Amino acid sequence: MINEKNHLYQFWPIVIGKFYNKEHDLIKKELIDFFKNYEKKNSIGNKQLHDKNYTGNHNLYQSEYNLHTEENSALHKVLKFIAMSILETAKAVNKPWLEGNKKELNVKLIESWFIRYNQGGMVYPHNHGNFSWSCVYYVQTGKEAKKMNGSTYFLKPYHPQHPFDFGSNYMQKGQVTMEAEEGKLLVFPGHLFHGSHPFYGEDDRIIISANSYTELKKN
Ligand SMILES: [Fe+2]
Repeated sequence: MINEKNHLYQFWPIVIGKFYNKEHDLIKKELIDFFKNYEKKNSIGNKQLHDKNYTGNHNLYQSEYNLHTEENSALHKVLKFIAMSILETAKAVNKPWLEGNKKELNVKLIESWFIRYNQGGMVYPHNHGNFSWSCVYYVQTGKEAKKMNGSTYFLKPYHPQHPFDFGSNYMQKGQVTMEAEEGKLLVFPGHLFHGSHPFYGEDDRIIISANSYTELKKN
């Protein structure tokens, strides 16, 4: 029945932002050279790689979480692009609250790292619990990248249900899979479980990931 007061509320949506870095081709080589040097200088990498009790990943190299403190112009360009994209996401989803309270947001990256996957390397399902917004940026994927090769998957955050009717078909998928593309950034809520499909290809798959802190701008 049509009544102008009718309304479909949509509470607690899961938002994943997709952004493309127009500058990617210009900075890719410098970034990869920087990562090669970083790995040479810090061959031990993140301590998780050497923790026999840590089972969160397989066959990869991971930097420390303070990549943003390193000096490199290509790196800082891409981190700026990441921060601006997260800010755009946070502004869009909080628009009514920001306008209602006359506030503006600012985003800081407080953890950032890169991962270089060896052949078949992967990250198992995990989340970045304490952060509003996290992300993955594909630095290098290789021509072999496809749905089941080096993609990122996100798991449905709701309790599993198997209704016997068709009314909730729009909720049917247990996961969404997003293909890796060079220069693409996915921004997602830190609570959302995700992981990567193993990658096999001529070039190593390389990504940057970051956790951000969104604060109110001081007037
Ligand atoms: Fe992650």
